[in-house]
Amino acid sequence: MFVSRLQLVNFRNYQNQLVSFSPGKVLIYGANGQGKTNLLEAIYYLVIGKSFRGKDSSLIRFGAESFFLGAKITKDGQKITLGIEYSGKGKIFTKNGQKQKGFSYLLGSLKGVLFTPDEPVNFFGSPTNRRKSLDLFLAQTSKTYLLNLIYYNKVLANKNALLKQPGTTENIIDAWDYKLAEYGAEIIKEREKSLRVLNELLTELNDELKFLLGKITIDYKPQGTLEKESFYRFLKQRQGEERIKKFALFGPHRDDFRFYLNDKDLKVFGSQGQKKGVLLLFKLAQAVYMTKILGEKPVLLLDDLYSEFDSEKRRALEGFFLNFSEQVLITATDPGDLKNYDQAVLINDGLVL
Ligand SMILES: Nc1ncnc2c1ncn2[C@@H]1O[C@H](COP(=O)(O)OP(=O)(O)O)[C@@H](O)[C@H]1O
Ligand SMILES: [Mg+2]
Repeated sequence: MFVSRLQLVNFRNYQNQLVSFSPGKVLIYGANGQGKTNLLEAIYYLVIGKSFRGKDSSLIRFGAESFFLGAKITKDGQKITLGIEYSGKGKIFTKNGQKQKGFSYLLGSLKGVLFTPDEPVNFFGSPTNRRKSLDLFLAQTSKTYLLNLIYYNKVLANKNALLKQPGTTENIIDAWDYKLAEYGAEIIKEREKSLRVLNELLTELNDELKFLLGKITIDYKPQGTLEKESFYRFLKQRQGEERIKKFALFGPHRDDFRFYLNDKDLKVFGSQGQKKGVLLLFKLAQAVYMTKILGEKPVLLLDDLYSEFDSEKRRALEGFFLNFSEQVLITATDPGDLKNYDQAVLINDGLVL
């Protein structure tokens, strides 16, 4: 799939901008602070329903009251239109002109994988960020996963409220734990399976793209089990502790997965360059997963890619783009050789020239 048109109204430093994109390799170039990352942020907003780097209120152009993002997507020859409007009153989501109840109805329409140079710090910095990142990928790839996650979080919120309420009996918590175990086991199963596949794919890419980082292992430590009855018993055994602390301490909302490079924890021992390399491979593995398992090539959004990787890796990446994306948008301050691209878009002060 690819984004053929994008409209930004009062989004960041864009006032009212319409851009047409071609499939293939699209270069977005311009000096610093002109709006290149803002453009990727807008597209990825349509992928995940929020910004990867700011609160909704900070995305509204200074002095304006709301923003609108619209996109036309071409998927297997079919056209899909998506729209999101945000104002202080909330968000309005539309798909093919029809208003939708929430973003979950848009999720998956535009599949995308984003990599930014700032991301490794957050990603390797905390389990919460890693979990969120994985959830965004899985929610795009599986409606069942998305629904299980939504139900799980609802039940979790109820359980947390009850744990804080005096007089809540063990029986009441049991009932919620049973539900948590049901959805939680499915979430853990999907995380376990996908991380195993992503680990295999990134190991292959590490060789094929000549990243030569060494042996990369993803170690997933689920806070629960793969089967609902045993998961329920797992939670029940730990209920006493949760009642004392007055919130839910166990379950996939506390999951973590860590990366090891040659059996050493990357977070602790990895260099910045190794972290960047591993995270890029992890993201590219997600694109391969979408292509091979779902049969849908995502849009790749790569911010400042070339300032981060040398010319040999760049060349290896070119081949990858041909096979695993219908469209890749790359931002750069230095345009380099424009002949290498299917389209080059120059950005200056919130305007596409
Ligand atoms: N809400 C906003 N309203 C207007 N301008 C904004 C807003 N948020 C960020 N900007 C502007 O966007 C610019 C940064 O854009 P960005 O896409 O990050 O630059 P780059 O081209 O370097 O990637 C800055 O000039 C900043 O002032
Ligand atoms: Mg930028």
